[in-house]
Amino acid sequence: MALWGGRFTGDTSQMFKQVNDSLPFDQVMAVEDITGSIAWANAIAKAAVLTDQEHQQLLSALQELLSAAKAGELDFAASNEEDIHSFVEAALIDKVGDIGRKLHTGRSRNDQVATDFRLWCKAHIGQLRNDILNLIKALLDCGSRYQSAILPGYTHLQRAQPVRFPHWCLAYVEMLKRDLSRLDDAQQRLNQSPLGCGALAGTTYPIDRQAIADELGFTVPCQNSLDAVSDRDFVLELLFCASTSMMHLSRLAEDLIFYNSGEAGFTRLSDDVTSGSSLMPQKKNPDGLELMRGKCGRVFGHLQGLLVTMKGLPLAYNKDMQEDKEGAMDAFHQWHICLAIGAEVLNGLELNQERCRDAAQKGYANATELADYLVGKGIPFRTAHDLAGKAVLIAIQQNCGIEDLSLSDLQAISEHITDDVYPILDLDYLVDKRNILGGTGAAPVNDALFAAHEWHDQQ
Ligand code: ARG
Repeated sequence: MALWGGRFTGDTSQMFKQVNDSLPFDQVMAVEDITGSIAWANAIAKAAVLTDQEHQQLLSALQELLSAAKAGELDFAASNEEDIHSFVEAALIDKVGDIGRKLHTGRSRNDQVATDFRLWCKAHIGQLRNDILNLIKALLDCGSRYQSAILPGYTHLQRAQPVRFPHWCLAYVEMLKRDLSRLDDAQQRLNQSPLGCGALAGTTYPIDRQAIADELGFTVPCQNSLDAVSDRDFVLELLFCASTSMMHLSRLAEDLIFYNSGEAGFTRLSDDVTSGSSLMPQKKNPDGLELMRGKCGRVFGHLQGLLVTMKGLPLAYNKDMQEDKEGAMDAFHQWHICLAIGAEVLNGLELNQERCRDAAQKGYANATELADYLVGKGIPFRTAHDLAGKAVLIAIQQNCGIEDLSLSDLQAISEHITDDVYPILDLDYLVDKRNILGGTGAAPVNDALFAAHEWHDQQ
């Protein structure tokens, strides 16, 4: 039976039910709805709306429902209820009869849904935090497995300067650490309790809103009842967190797809995160990574979708806002699985260190070194840059590296070049020369890797 039938004489149409009902997707908030209802029962008992006996009866029935919800035993499929709030109330009335009809005193589904969804989001933030930390761990372990490997660093997808492999891993660790702190930040703002704000104007019953906030694990009650039932910023912020992190994941995926290509051949992905072709027997495609990259689209779409839904809505609650859930729930789920698959990919990743080194060696990545060498000999950088470019040109013509050019070839470019040029053209030397905080030299990279492992273990 609908919660609001009194002033209606006609029935609702089937089509209306299809557009209006949210039970098919908000049933996942059953635990939160019942938890909120327990807090509300306590609050109205304290406000003398319920006798002790009624209070106890409601509590034990709600506890039973809570256990059933946790065990996945609530039968939503058989229900004709509109949403999770009416479902729980109906189930309660089923258990305790008329006393169950007292629970909604002073409460509205508007403050109820705002409370439930905040609780649901909080629970998922916990899960997503773990997922992020898990991916960070996989990146760190992968970096440690290949601590001294060197691979080409790119700009414009052209080989630019070589970097240590863990340096690349740590770049993504930094991004994920920001994703984590963004999530913590959003959590802090969403951590307010709407319950007691009623439909929009607050409630006439003497409810202790701070006690409800404490019981539900919120820090404070929302300060304005109109805002409390209208605000969906917390969902938008989380969608932004998800979108930004998915963008990071898509770049990680893209790097790895490229590293794994036949052309680069830097990595080998394990069988459990790849799939074959129905036609070409030789294929082993990086589908897990491609989906990590591809699922960005829908997550960004959910952020955009809810922004547009919320735009221009008058205060306070409007049914448009029921559209906040499906997109967000999907976004968090996709984010969760992408973080998890990222960790699986990295845990099984094999790096072909020789191939990486070879590519790093071959890209004329030591041209900057030669320019710096000439600067050391007193040549202005702009001129040195030009001379080093000439060395690259000659090496290309001779189909070799700069380090393979003869001294007389090099001296034809500049008489300042002597024998001592060769050591500085060496790959390890030039990488380790970037011995600065945040640089790719072995010392700062090893320090950063160690610090990041320590940071992770303290989380
Ligand atoms: N199912 C609704 C939602 O998700 C619950 C709130 C309904 N409130 C109302 N006044 N119709 O937003």
